[in-house]
Amino acid sequence: MLEVKNLKKCFGNNVVLKDINFKVNKGDIISIVGPSGSGKSTLLRCINMIEKPSGGNIIFEEKSLMDKNTNLSLIREKIGMVFQQFNLFPHLTVLDNITLAPIKLKLMSEDIAKKKAIELLKTIDLKDKADEYPNSLSGGQKQRVAIIRTLIMEPDIILFDEPTSALDPEMVGEVLELIKKVADTGKTMIIVSHEMNFVKKIANRILFLDEGKIMFDGKTKDFFNSDNERIKEFLSKINK
Ligand SMILES: Nc1ncnc2c1ncn2[C@@H]1O[C@H](COP(=O)(O)OP(=O)(O)O)[C@@H](O)[C@H]1O
Ligand SMILES: [Mg+2]
Repeated sequence: MLEVKNLKKCFGNNVVLKDINFKVNKGDIISIVGPSGSGKSTLLRCINMIEKPSGGNIIFEEKSLMDKNTNLSLIREKIGMVFQQFNLFPHLTVLDNITLAPIKLKLMSEDIAKKKAIELLKTIDLKDKADEYPNSLSGGQKQRVAIIRTLIMEPDIILFDEPTSALDPEMVGEVLELIKKVADTGKTMIIVSHEMNFVKKIANRILFLDEGKIMFDGKTKDFFNSDNERIKEFLSKINK
């Protein structure tokens, strides 16, 4: 469904992504792991064109995202993204945060969007918070609302950029549990995470990014059992 081809991204003289190639099939749950600064966020941001690639191509459902005629806002409806910092609008209620995009893009009537949002809030036990503002929520609650806001769009694929890194440790579990629940519905996902136990459990495939290149692309268990010195070093550091 998605193909990244010879992707290159530079910021000035800083070549962040060198020559990235991989394909995502429907139902894949791919974890991108790698040291800080290796270009993981940049890669996700290129995939939904928040960052414009410097070279190469991204092909989604047979459409090139680099093609000037491709409607990027339509593509972004289909490629959802969940950020480390939640990115909820502080001046909108929880309900309005969730319904904003589908109403604005005329995908649903206001009534339907609200009904759907309430149903989704029920699934995460936050129906009571519908009329509150994000500031009154805990970090874990904010991130779960952010995930629901993505789900209401019924994207074909969801990109998660370190969804639990900004959370207090006691809130990590509830967010990972929700991501797991969504994964179990068969949704295609790419997850950048340092939570190795979670990655091991949820991902069917690992991409290990190092110095702007993919150093490993393969099965999760092969990654964790790898003899490669660089991978072993990475795993030993992260497990400390
Ligand atoms: N908007 C930007 N402008 C300039 N440099 C950037 C920008 N975004 C990321 N970078 C640089 O790209 C490199 C990779 O960053 P990033 O993709 O955030 O890595 P990771 O998510 O793996 O920690 C870093 O050197 C970072 O400074
Ligand atoms: Mg990052």
